Amino acid sequence: MNGRRMPVRILSLLLAAGLAGSLAYGLSNARKGYEPRQPILFRHTRMAGVPVWQKDAKGEMVNVGGFGIPCVYCHTMAYKGRHSTVPSTAVCMNCHTSVGLNKEWVLKMKEYWDRGEPIPWVKVHDLPDFVYYDHSAHLNAKDEKGEPKIPVKDAEGRRINPCEACHGKVEQEEIVRVQVNFNMQWCLDCHRKPEMKAPTDCVACHR
Ligand code: HEC
Ligand code: HEC
Ligand code: HEC
Ligand code: HEC
Ligand code: HEC
Repeated sequence: MNGRRMPVRILSLLLAAGLAGSLAYGLSNARKGYEPRQPILFRHTRMAGVPVWQKDAKGEMVNVGGFGIPCVYCHTMAYKGRHSTVPSTAVCMNCHTSVGLNKEWVLKMKEYWDRGEPIPWVKVHDLPDFVYYDHSAHLNAKDEKGEPKIPVKDAEGRRINPCEACHGKVEQEEIVRVQVNFNMQWCLDCHRKPEMKAPTDCVACHR
């Protein structure tokens, strides 16, 4: 850390933290487990989970599991921008003008659409404004061999979703829940891993 390069922003942050005696608070972002109710019961298990085929009462095969829609179909900016973004209702309506029209929550969603109102999704993850975080920088980071730094394979070489590193298995969640405390220590623990070669200077995350 170099005095001249440290912007006023960080100094005032430090001062504020010192005044409140709350650096410990900064190191313990308390969102883990946060799982707000949403205006529409949108289940990732159903939209993004793996299919499970079963015979229904009439002996016909029906999918009682998920439809395996890729994360980026809806979170279109994950590899392209700072925010992954939550989809607009238009994305849902690509399918829901014709499917699920007998389902309570699909009809509720259609009411928003017909009124021309966006669905007021409640933010689940939310870093303080003084922290800089960029999805695309993480998901596109490559090592010397050209392999993604955020793991896409487990120890046995099976494919894993890179989103898991920070969000867990969202496709298995009925309601999205914050998996870890997104505090400074957590960011730094990963940044300090030798294979990550990620920045640890204050200005990287506080600019
Ligand atoms: C069909 C569209 C769709 C697909 C596919 C989808 N999501 Fe979502 N996702 C949403 C919507 C809508 C929300 C906002 C409502 C909510 O939080 O449940 C959301 C919320 C989230 C959030 C929380 C956002 C916040 O406010 O912090 C995360 C994290 C997330 N999704 C990750 C994923 C991952 C990882 C996958 C793939 C395994 C995925 N999503 C697949 C539509 C989708
Ligand atoms: C290295 C950790 C990390 C990885 C990997 C990651 N995320 Fe996130 N994600 C975050 C953080 C941190 C936030 C909170 C950002 C904020 O509040 O500004 C977040 C927020 C989100 C949000 C809320 C809206 C937004 O963009 O701020 C969505 C949706 C989301 N992530 C989806 C995904 C998806 C889909 C993937 C995989 C393609 C993914 N994330 C991979 C750390 C990660
Ligand atoms: C690629 C097509 C596709 C997209 C895009 C899509 N869905 Fe679905 N959705 C389906 C299918 C197929 C079903 C199952 C319908 C049925 O069971 O009759 C479904 C079922 C649902 C249900 C029914 C309740 C449940 O969980 O079983 C809800 C609610 C829902 N979707 C919400 C959404 C929302 C919100 C979005 C946009 C963020 C979205 N869907 C985007 C295909 C899609
Ligand atoms: C799972 C590991 C991991 C976690 C967790 C993680 N990062 Fe990173 N971060 C990386 C990698 C890998 C890079 C890219 C290093 C490179 O190749 O340059 C990176 C790069 C960055 C950069 C520099 C690139 C840019 O966007 O300007 C910033 C800033 C950053 N991370 C912020 C954060 C913050 C803030 C958090 C916590 C909320 C966080 N990271 C959590 C692995 C991680
Ligand atoms: C890899 C990213 C990263 C780096 C590098 C980093 N920080 Fe942070 N910092 C964070 C995150 C994330 C938070 C927010 C934690 C929370 O929300 O609880 C934070 C919070 C803070 C806070 C606020 C504490 C409070 O009480 O709210 C201060 C002060 C701070 N950082 C100073 C620093 C200084 C000084 C450095 C350099 C030595 C540094 N940070 C390096 C990610 C980082």
